[in-house]
Amino acid sequence: MSSDKQPDGKKRLESLHGKKIILGITGSIAAYKAAFLLRLLIKAGAEVQVLMTSAAADFIGPVTLATLSKRPVLSDIQSEANWNNHVELGLWADAFIIAPATANTLAKLSSGICDNLLTAVYLSARCPVFAAPAMDVDMWHHPATRRNIRQLQTDGIHLLPVGKGELASGLEGEGRMAEPEEILDFLADFFFAQGKHDPPHSPLSGKRLMLTAGPTYEPLDPVRFLGNRSSGKMGIALADALARRGAKVHLILGPSALRPKENKVEVIHVKTAEEMLQAALRLFPKADAAILAAAVADYKPARVSPEKIKKKGESMTLQLEKTPDIAATLGQQKRPGQYLIGFALETENEKANARSKLQRKNFDFIVLNSLRDPGAGFQTDTNKISILFPGNKARAYELKAKEEVAEDILDTLEELFQNDKAL
Ligand code: C5P
Repeated sequence: MSSDKQPDGKKRLESLHGKKIILGITGSIAAYKAAFLLRLLIKAGAEVQVLMTSAAADFIGPVTLATLSKRPVLSDIQSEANWNNHVELGLWADAFIIAPATANTLAKLSSGICDNLLTAVYLSARCPVFAAPAMDVDMWHHPATRRNIRQLQTDGIHLLPVGKGELASGLEGEGRMAEPEEILDFLADFFFAQGKHDPPHSPLSGKRLMLTAGPTYEPLDPVRFLGNRSSGKMGIALADALARRGAKVHLILGPSALRPKENKVEVIHVKTAEEMLQAALRLFPKADAAILAAAVADYKPARVSPEKIKKKGESMTLQLEKTPDIAATLGQQKRPGQYLIGFALETENEKANARSKLQRKNFDFIVLNSLRDPGAGFQTDTNKISILFPGNKARAYELKAKEEVAEDILDTLEELFQNDKAL
Protein backbone atom coordinates (compact mmCIF):
# COMPACT_ATOMS: atom_id res chain seq x y z
CA MET A 1 0.00 0.00 0.00
CA SER A 2 1.43 3.37 -0.89
CA SER A 3 1.91 6.11 1.69
CA ASP A 4 -0.77 8.47 0.56
CA LYS A 5 -3.40 5.73 0.87
CA GLN A 6 -2.59 5.21 4.55
CA PRO A 7 -4.25 7.27 7.25
CA ASP A 8 -1.69 9.90 8.16
CA GLY A 9 0.07 8.99 4.87
CA LYS A 10 0.68 12.57 3.84
CA LYS A 11 2.25 13.51 7.16
CA ARG A 12 4.41 10.40 7.08
CA LEU A 13 5.61 11.16 3.59
CA GLU A 14 6.40 14.75 4.60
CA SER A 15 8.89 13.40 7.12
CA LEU A 16 11.14 12.47 4.15
CA HIS A 17 11.31 16.08 3.01
CA GLY A 18 14.87 17.43 3.12
CA LYS A 19 16.31 14.11 4.35
CA LYS A 20 19.72 13.16 3.02
CA ILE A 21 19.63 9.58 1.83
CA ILE A 22 22.29 7.31 0.34
CA LEU A 23 20.77 4.77 -2.01
CA GLY A 24 23.14 1.82 -2.37
CA ILE A 25 22.49 -0.48 -5.33
CA THR A 26 24.04 -3.93 -5.67
CA GLY A 27 24.11 -6.46 -8.49
CA SER A 28 20.69 -8.03 -8.68
CA ILE A 29 18.08 -8.11 -11.42
CA ALA A 30 15.91 -6.08 -9.01
CA ALA A 31 18.34 -3.16 -9.53
CA TYR A 32 15.97 -1.70 -12.13
CA LYS A 33 13.42 -1.16 -9.35
CA ALA A 34 15.95 1.09 -7.57
CA ALA A 35 15.26 3.70 -10.28
CA PHE A 36 11.57 3.73 -9.25
CA LEU A 37 12.52 4.02 -5.58
CA LEU A 38 14.87 6.87 -6.41
CA ARG A 39 12.10 8.71 -8.26
CA LEU A 40 9.71 8.29 -5.30
CA LEU A 41 12.32 9.56 -2.82
CA ILE A 42 13.08 12.61 -4.97
CA LYS A 43 9.35 13.29 -5.35
CA ALA A 44 9.00 13.18 -1.55
CA GLY A 45 11.64 15.92 -1.31
CA ALA A 46 14.63 13.84 -0.21
CA GLU A 47 18.21 14.49 -1.41
CA VAL A 48 19.57 11.22 -2.72
CA GLN A 49 23.14 10.20 -3.40
CA VAL A 50 23.33 7.00 -5.42
CA LEU A 51 26.14 4.57 -4.76
CA MET A 52 26.50 1.42 -6.82
CA THR A 53 28.74 -1.60 -6.90
CA SER A 54 30.40 -2.51 -10.17
CA ALA A 55 28.09 -5.55 -10.43
CA ALA A 56 25.04 -3.26 -10.18
CA ALA A 57 26.20 -1.41 -13.31
CA ASP A 58 25.56 -4.62 -15.27
CA PHE A 59 21.86 -4.28 -14.45
CA ILE A 60 21.17 -0.55 -14.54
CA GLY A 61 22.93 2.37 -16.17
CA PRO A 62 24.51 5.09 -14.03
CA VAL A 63 23.26 7.73 -16.49
CA THR A 64 19.61 6.94 -15.65
CA LEU A 65 20.32 7.18 -11.94
CA ALA A 66 22.41 10.35 -12.23
CA THR A 67 19.61 12.00 -14.25
CA LEU A 68 16.92 11.06 -11.73
CA SER A 69 18.98 12.07 -8.69
CA LYS A 70 20.54 15.14 -10.33
CA ARG A 71 23.86 14.08 -8.83
CA PRO A 72 26.79 12.10 -10.19
CA VAL A 73 26.54 8.43 -9.24
CA LEU A 74 29.43 7.12 -7.15
CA SER A 75 30.79 3.69 -7.87
CA ASP A 76 33.94 1.62 -7.61
CA ILE A 77 34.53 1.76 -11.30
CA GLN A 78 35.22 5.46 -11.15
CA SER A 79 38.26 7.31 -9.96
CA GLU A 80 40.11 6.55 -6.77
CA ALA A 81 39.10 9.98 -5.48
CA ASN A 82 35.65 8.55 -4.70
CA TRP A 83 37.18 6.10 -2.30
CA ASN A 84 38.06 8.85 0.16
CA ASN A 85 34.44 9.93 0.22
CA HIS A 86 33.29 7.02 2.31
CA VAL A 87 33.71 8.73 5.68
CA GLU A 88 32.24 12.00 4.48
CA LEU A 89 29.24 10.26 2.95
CA GLY A 90 28.68 8.21 6.09
CA LEU A 91 28.49 11.42 8.11
CA TRP A 92 26.40 13.34 5.56
CA ALA A 93 23.48 10.92 5.38
CA ASP A 94 20.37 10.76 7.55
CA ALA A 95 19.77 7.22 6.27
CA PHE A 96 21.50 4.63 4.10
CA ILE A 97 19.21 2.27 2.19
CA ILE A 98 20.66 -0.64 0.26
CA ALA A 99 18.12 -1.77 -2.32
CA PRO A 100 18.51 -4.31 -3.75
CA ALA A 101 20.85 -5.98 -1.23
CA THR A 102 22.29 -9.21 -2.65
CA ALA A 103 23.23 -12.28 -0.59
CA ASN A 104 26.85 -11.43 -1.36
CA THR A 105 26.64 -7.85 -0.04
CA LEU A 106 24.66 -8.93 3.06
CA ALA A 107 27.36 -11.52 3.80
CA LYS A 108 30.05 -8.86 3.51
CA LEU A 109 28.15 -6.44 5.74
CA SER A 110 27.52 -9.08 8.40
CA SER A 111 31.25 -9.76 8.75
CA GLY A 112 32.52 -6.22 8.23
CA ILE A 113 34.29 -6.85 4.92
CA CYS A 114 34.80 -3.59 3.03
CA ASP A 115 36.22 -4.32 -0.40
CA ASN A 116 34.17 -1.73 -2.31
CA LEU A 117 32.84 1.78 -1.81
CA LEU A 118 29.38 0.65 -0.70
CA THR A 119 30.65 -1.66 2.05
CA ALA A 120 33.19 0.96 3.18
CA VAL A 121 30.41 3.55 3.52
CA TYR A 122 28.43 1.02 5.58
CA LEU A 123 31.29 0.69 8.07
CA SER A 124 31.68 4.46 8.33
CA ALA A 125 27.97 5.32 8.50
CA ARG A 126 26.66 6.80 11.73
CA CYS A 127 23.11 6.97 10.37
CA PRO A 128 20.48 4.22 10.47
CA VAL A 129 20.99 1.60 7.76
CA PHE A 130 18.19 -0.19 5.89
CA ALA A 131 18.47 -3.10 3.49
CA ALA A 132 15.96 -4.62 1.09
CA PRO A 133 17.27 -8.13 0.32
CA ALA A 134 16.79 -9.59 -3.15
CA MET A 135 17.84 -13.12 -4.09
CA ASP A 136 16.69 -16.50 -5.19
CA VAL A 137 14.55 -18.60 -2.83
CA ASP A 138 17.27 -21.16 -2.03
CA MET A 139 19.84 -18.47 -1.36
CA TRP A 140 17.36 -16.73 0.98
CA HIS A 141 16.75 -19.93 2.97
CA HIS A 142 20.38 -21.07 3.06
CA PRO A 143 21.71 -21.39 6.64
CA ALA A 144 24.56 -19.01 5.77
CA THR A 145 22.12 -16.28 4.68
CA ARG A 146 19.91 -16.93 7.73
CA ARG A 147 22.99 -16.53 9.95
CA ASN A 148 24.01 -13.31 8.19
CA ILE A 149 20.49 -11.89 8.51
CA ARG A 150 20.43 -12.65 12.25
CA GLN A 151 23.82 -11.02 12.68
CA LEU A 152 22.75 -7.91 10.76
CA GLN A 153 19.61 -7.59 12.89
CA THR A 154 21.71 -7.84 16.02
CA ASP A 155 23.99 -5.16 14.58
CA GLY A 156 20.95 -2.89 14.26
CA ILE A 157 20.32 -2.93 10.48
CA HIS A 158 16.67 -2.41 9.60
CA LEU A 159 15.77 -5.21 7.19
CA LEU A 160 12.79 -4.93 4.91
CA PRO A 161 10.71 -8.07 4.58
CA VAL A 162 11.17 -9.91 1.28
CA GLY A 163 8.22 -10.63 -0.98
CA LYS A 164 6.97 -14.04 -2.10
CA GLY A 165 6.21 -14.99 -5.68
CA GLU A 166 7.80 -15.58 -9.04
CA LEU A 167 11.55 -14.99 -9.09
CA ALA A 168 13.82 -14.09 -11.99
CA SER A 169 15.19 -17.66 -11.97
CA GLY A 170 11.71 -18.98 -12.74
CA LEU A 171 11.43 -20.48 -9.26
CA GLU A 172 8.60 -19.53 -6.90
CA GLY A 173 9.11 -18.52 -3.29
CA GLU A 174 10.56 -15.92 -0.94
CA GLY A 175 13.36 -13.62 -2.02
CA ARG A 176 11.73 -10.88 -4.10
CA MET A 177 12.82 -7.39 -3.20
CA ALA A 178 10.15 -5.29 -1.47
CA GLU A 179 8.35 -3.01 -3.93
CA PRO A 180 9.65 0.58 -4.19
CA GLU A 181 6.40 1.92 -2.65
CA GLU A 182 6.82 -0.42 0.34
CA ILE A 183 10.42 0.71 0.84
CA LEU A 184 9.32 4.33 0.67
CA ASP A 185 6.61 3.69 3.30
CA PHE A 186 9.12 1.91 5.53
CA LEU A 187 11.52 4.86 5.41
CA ALA A 188 8.74 7.40 5.85
CA ASP A 189 7.42 5.49 8.91
CA PHE A 190 10.90 5.44 10.38
CA PHE A 191 11.44 9.20 10.05
CA PHE A 192 7.90 9.90 11.20
CA ALA A 193 8.39 7.85 14.38
CA GLN A 194 11.82 9.43 14.92
CA GLY A 195 10.24 12.88 14.62
CA LYS A 196 7.83 11.95 17.40
CA HIS A 197 10.81 11.15 19.61
CA ASP A 198 12.62 14.40 18.98
CA PRO A 199 13.13 16.05 22.36
CA PRO A 200 10.60 18.85 21.75
CA HIS A 201 7.90 16.30 20.94
CA SER A 202 8.56 13.60 23.52
CA PRO A 203 6.50 13.67 26.72
CA LEU A 204 9.71 12.51 28.42
CA SER A 205 11.53 15.68 27.43
CA GLY A 206 12.64 17.58 30.54
CA LYS A 207 11.49 14.78 32.87
CA ARG A 208 13.86 13.54 35.59
CA LEU A 209 14.49 9.83 35.27
CA MET A 210 16.36 7.57 37.65
CA LEU A 211 17.60 4.17 36.52
CA THR A 212 19.37 1.26 38.14
CA ALA A 213 21.36 -1.15 35.95
CA GLY A 214 24.01 -3.84 36.05
CA PRO A 215 24.78 -6.42 38.73
CA THR A 216 25.73 -5.83 42.33
CA TYR A 217 28.84 -7.35 43.91
CA GLU A 218 28.49 -8.35 47.57
CA PRO A 219 31.92 -8.71 49.17
CA LEU A 220 32.97 -11.81 51.06
CA ASP A 221 36.53 -10.80 51.80
CA PRO A 222 38.96 -8.28 50.22
CA VAL A 223 39.27 -10.37 47.02
CA ARG A 224 35.99 -12.27 46.62
CA PHE A 225 32.37 -11.35 46.11
CA LEU A 226 28.94 -12.78 45.27
CA GLY A 227 27.74 -11.42 41.92
CA ASN A 228 25.74 -12.31 38.85
CA ARG A 229 26.03 -12.31 35.06
CA SER A 230 24.13 -9.08 34.34
CA SER A 231 25.98 -6.97 31.73
CA GLY A 232 23.97 -3.79 32.35
CA LYS A 233 23.29 -3.53 28.62
CA MET A 234 19.49 -3.24 28.81
CA GLY A 235 19.55 -0.52 31.48
CA ILE A 236 22.29 1.41 29.65
CA ALA A 237 20.31 1.22 26.37
CA LEU A 238 17.33 2.66 28.28
CA ALA A 239 19.44 5.47 29.73
CA ASP A 240 20.76 6.39 26.25
CA ALA A 241 17.30 6.28 24.67
CA LEU A 242 15.88 8.45 27.50
CA ALA A 243 18.63 11.03 27.00
CA ARG A 244 17.87 11.12 23.27
CA ARG A 245 14.24 11.86 24.11
CA GLY A 246 15.37 14.84 26.16
CA ALA A 247 15.04 13.40 29.70
CA LYS A 248 17.48 14.26 32.51
CA VAL A 249 18.93 10.89 33.34
CA HIS A 250 20.66 9.61 36.47
CA LEU A 251 21.96 6.09 35.98
CA ILE A 252 22.93 4.17 39.12
CA LEU A 253 25.25 1.56 37.66
CA GLY A 254 26.60 -1.55 39.36
CA PRO A 255 29.97 -3.03 38.31
CA SER A 256 29.65 -3.21 34.50
CA ALA A 257 32.24 -2.95 31.74
CA LEU A 258 29.78 -0.93 29.62
CA ARG A 259 29.14 2.80 29.66
CA PRO A 260 26.35 4.92 28.15
CA LYS A 261 27.04 6.48 24.73
CA GLU A 262 25.13 9.69 25.45
CA ASN A 263 27.32 12.05 27.45
CA LYS A 264 24.26 13.69 29.02
CA VAL A 265 23.60 10.57 31.09
CA GLU A 266 24.90 11.15 34.61
CA VAL A 267 26.40 7.94 35.97
CA ILE A 268 26.61 7.11 39.68
CA HIS A 269 28.87 4.08 40.16
CA VAL A 270 28.03 1.66 42.97
CA LYS A 271 29.11 -1.85 43.92
CA THR A 272 26.71 -3.29 46.49
CA ALA A 273 22.92 -3.42 46.89
CA GLU A 274 23.25 -1.20 49.97
CA GLU A 275 25.18 1.47 47.98
CA MET A 276 22.60 1.21 45.19
CA LEU A 277 19.79 1.72 47.71
CA GLN A 278 21.47 4.80 49.22
CA ALA A 279 21.92 6.42 45.79
CA ALA A 280 18.31 5.55 44.85
CA LEU A 281 16.93 6.99 48.10
CA ARG A 282 18.80 10.23 47.38
CA LEU A 283 17.59 10.54 43.76
CA PHE A 284 14.08 9.07 43.80
CA PRO A 285 12.26 11.88 45.67
CA LYS A 286 13.10 14.35 42.87
CA ALA A 287 12.51 11.89 40.00
CA ASP A 288 9.42 11.87 37.83
CA ALA A 289 9.94 8.18 37.17
CA ALA A 290 12.37 5.38 37.95
CA ILE A 291 13.24 2.30 35.92
CA LEU A 292 14.81 -0.51 37.92
CA ALA A 293 16.75 -2.69 35.51
CA ALA A 294 19.51 -3.76 37.92
CA ALA A 295 20.00 -7.41 38.79
CA VAL A 296 20.39 -6.79 42.50
CA ALA A 297 21.79 -9.62 44.61
CA ASP A 298 19.08 -10.97 46.92
CA TYR A 299 21.54 -12.14 49.58
CA LYS A 300 24.96 -11.05 50.76
CA PRO A 301 27.54 -12.67 53.02
CA ALA A 302 26.46 -12.06 56.62
CA ARG A 303 30.04 -11.29 57.55
CA VAL A 304 32.72 -9.66 55.42
CA SER A 305 36.11 -10.97 56.42
CA PRO A 306 38.72 -8.19 56.68
CA GLU A 307 41.39 -10.72 55.54
CA LYS A 308 41.43 -13.14 52.63
CA ILE A 309 39.63 -16.30 53.78
CA LYS A 310 42.11 -19.20 53.97
CA LYS A 311 41.48 -22.62 52.46
CA LYS A 312 40.59 -25.05 55.28
CA GLY A 313 38.92 -28.49 55.29
CA GLU A 314 36.85 -30.16 52.56
CA SER A 315 33.82 -27.90 52.67
CA MET A 316 32.78 -24.51 53.93
CA THR A 317 29.44 -22.97 54.76
CA LEU A 318 28.57 -19.38 54.03
CA GLN A 319 26.01 -17.60 56.11
CA LEU A 320 23.99 -15.18 53.93
CA GLU A 321 21.57 -12.44 54.85
CA LYS A 322 18.99 -10.55 52.80
CA THR A 323 19.92 -7.39 50.92
CA PRO A 324 17.51 -4.45 50.91
CA ASP A 325 14.76 -4.66 48.27
CA ILE A 326 15.30 -1.33 46.50
CA ALA A 327 12.20 -1.71 44.33
CA ALA A 328 9.88 -2.46 47.25
CA THR A 329 11.37 0.41 49.29
CA LEU A 330 10.81 2.91 46.47
CA GLY A 331 7.37 1.40 45.78
CA GLN A 332 6.33 2.33 49.31
CA GLN A 333 7.63 5.88 48.93
CA LYS A 334 6.12 6.50 45.50
CA ARG A 335 3.99 9.63 45.38
CA PRO A 336 0.97 10.21 43.10
CA GLY A 337 2.09 11.09 39.57
CA GLN A 338 5.44 9.38 40.01
CA TYR A 339 6.05 6.18 38.03
CA LEU A 340 8.01 3.10 38.96
CA ILE A 341 8.95 0.50 36.38
CA GLY A 342 10.51 -2.86 37.19
CA PHE A 343 11.97 -5.88 35.46
CA ALA A 344 11.45 -9.58 36.06
CA LEU A 345 13.81 -12.23 34.75
CA GLU A 346 12.12 -15.59 35.20
CA THR A 347 12.84 -19.22 34.38
CA GLU A 348 9.47 -20.75 35.39
CA ASN A 349 5.87 -19.64 36.03
CA GLU A 350 6.98 -16.46 34.27
CA LYS A 351 3.71 -14.51 34.10
CA ALA A 352 2.46 -15.43 37.60
CA ASN A 353 5.80 -14.52 39.21
CA ALA A 354 6.03 -11.25 37.32
CA ARG A 355 2.45 -10.31 38.25
CA SER A 356 3.17 -10.94 41.89
CA LYS A 357 6.28 -8.68 41.71
CA LEU A 358 4.29 -5.99 39.93
CA GLN A 359 1.87 -5.90 42.84
CA ARG A 360 4.30 -6.44 45.70
CA LYS A 361 6.69 -3.72 44.56
CA ASN A 362 3.96 -1.28 43.50
CA PHE A 363 5.25 -0.99 39.89
CA ASP A 364 3.22 0.83 37.21
CA PHE A 365 4.30 -1.83 34.78
CA ILE A 366 6.81 -4.65 34.75
CA VAL A 367 9.00 -5.82 31.87
CA LEU A 368 9.20 -9.60 31.80
CA ASN A 369 11.94 -11.53 30.07
CA SER A 370 12.10 -15.27 30.27
CA LEU A 371 15.42 -17.09 30.21
CA ARG A 372 13.55 -19.83 28.32
CA ASP A 373 13.41 -17.60 25.24
CA PRO A 374 16.58 -18.00 23.19
CA GLY A 375 18.24 -14.62 22.75
CA ALA A 376 16.63 -13.09 25.86
CA GLY A 377 18.24 -12.11 29.14
CA PHE A 378 21.79 -11.75 30.40
CA GLN A 379 24.84 -10.95 28.28
CA THR A 380 23.00 -11.06 24.96
CA ASP A 381 22.57 -8.18 22.51
CA THR A 382 18.91 -9.06 22.02
CA ASN A 383 15.88 -9.41 24.25
CA LYS A 384 12.31 -10.68 24.00
CA ILE A 385 9.96 -9.03 26.43
CA SER A 386 6.36 -8.81 27.54
CA ILE A 387 5.05 -5.79 29.40
CA LEU A 388 2.51 -6.54 32.12
CA PHE A 389 0.23 -3.88 33.56
CA PRO A 390 -1.86 -3.80 36.75
CA GLY A 391 -5.15 -5.55 36.06
CA ASN A 392 -4.72 -8.28 33.53
CA LYS A 393 -3.35 -6.44 30.52
CA ALA A 394 -0.16 -7.44 28.77
CA ARG A 395 1.74 -6.73 25.55
CA ALA A 396 4.12 -9.23 23.94
CA TYR A 397 6.99 -8.20 21.67
CA GLU A 398 9.24 -9.96 19.15
CA LEU A 399 12.93 -10.74 19.71
CA LYS A 400 14.79 -7.47 19.05
CA ALA A 401 18.10 -5.69 19.64
CA LYS A 402 18.18 -4.30 23.20
CA GLU A 403 18.33 -0.76 21.76
CA GLU A 404 14.98 -1.37 20.03
CA VAL A 405 13.50 -3.00 23.13
CA ALA A 406 14.44 0.17 25.02
CA GLU A 407 12.39 2.23 22.52
CA ASP A 408 9.35 -0.04 23.05
CA ILE A 409 9.61 0.35 26.83
CA LEU A 410 9.92 4.13 26.55
CA ASP A 411 6.96 4.33 24.16
CA THR A 412 4.93 2.66 26.92
CA LEU A 413 6.29 5.02 29.57
CA GLU A 414 5.42 7.97 27.31
CA GLU A 415 1.83 6.75 27.23
CA LEU A 416 1.73 6.96 31.04
CA PHE A 417 3.02 10.54 31.02
CA GLN A 418 0.93 11.59 28.06
CA ASN A 419 -2.44 10.39 29.10
CA ASP A 420 -2.06 9.47 32.70
CA LYS A 421 -4.42 6.81 31.52
CA ALA A 422 -5.07 3.34 32.83
CA LEU A 423 -3.39 1.15 30.22
O1 C5P B 1 12.37 -9.94 43.04
P1 C5P B 1 13.22 -9.71 41.84
O2 C5P B 1 14.66 -9.51 42.17
O3 C5P B 1 13.08 -10.75 40.75
O4 C5P B 1 12.61 -8.35 41.22
C1 C5P B 1 13.11 -7.78 40.10
C2 C5P B 1 12.91 -6.29 40.12
O5 C5P B 1 13.15 -5.73 41.40
C3 C5P B 1 13.88 -5.59 39.20
O6 C5P B 1 13.25 -4.43 38.71
C4 C5P B 1 15.06 -5.29 40.13
O7 C5P B 1 15.84 -4.21 39.65
C5 C5P B 1 14.34 -4.93 41.40
N1 C5P B 1 15.08 -5.27 42.63
C6 C5P B 1 15.55 -4.28 43.46
N2 C5P B 1 16.19 -4.59 44.64
C7 C5P B 1 16.38 -5.87 44.98
C8 C5P B 1 15.94 -6.90 44.14
C9 C5P B 1 15.30 -6.58 42.98
O8 C5P B 1 15.38 -3.10 43.14
N3 C5P B 1 17.02 -6.16 46.11
